[in-house]
Amino acid sequence: MAILSIPEKGVQISDANQIRTFFNERGIFFDQWSCDVVFDDTASQEEILAAYEKDLKPFMVNGGYETADVISINSLTENYDAIRAKFLAEHIHTEDEIRFFVDGQGLFWFNLETEPVFNLLCQRGDLISVPAGSKHWFDAGESNPFVKAIRIFIDMSGWVPHYTDSGIEQNFKDFRIQ
Ligand SMILES: [Fe+2]
Repeated sequence: MAILSIPEKGVQISDANQIRTFFNERGIFFDQWSCDVVFDDTASQEEILAAYEKDLKPFMVNGGYETADVISINSLTENYDAIRAKFLAEHIHTEDEIRFFVDGQGLFWFNLETEPVFNLLCQRGDLISVPAGSKHWFDAGESNPFVKAIRIFIDMSGWVPHYTDSGIEQNFKDFRIQ
């Protein structure tokens, strides 16, 4: 269940259809997928990808995406602070950044420049595609991170962050979902 927040306006929206419309109006794809499988910590990447194949496969074919994998971050992840820092500063990518949240959660921040910064809390079942060239940053939290997400790529090399060095993310570092 996603939550959209616009901190400067004090706006918070948790209705999935309203969120979908909000993002689609801005050229950002948002969707929700479901599956009947409950994963435990030992679930393999292959098991997770197979469980979502009915949604994943047509999405990849339609979008021309070539590869998918599963990323897992939790409180046992080594060097978490360094991993967090890498995506906590505003950046862009040369290809879409697509994440489907199998479990856990994380906050995607968007700076479209023509309107106030907004963010999307992504949780189990949420799919977001950050368009290539869009200024954004990501946070899974300062402590106790938990993210299990499918990543979908055309070419994994496009996922390198190009930092804007704007420092804008600093204005929102104390943000908490109410
Ligand atoms: Fe990114």
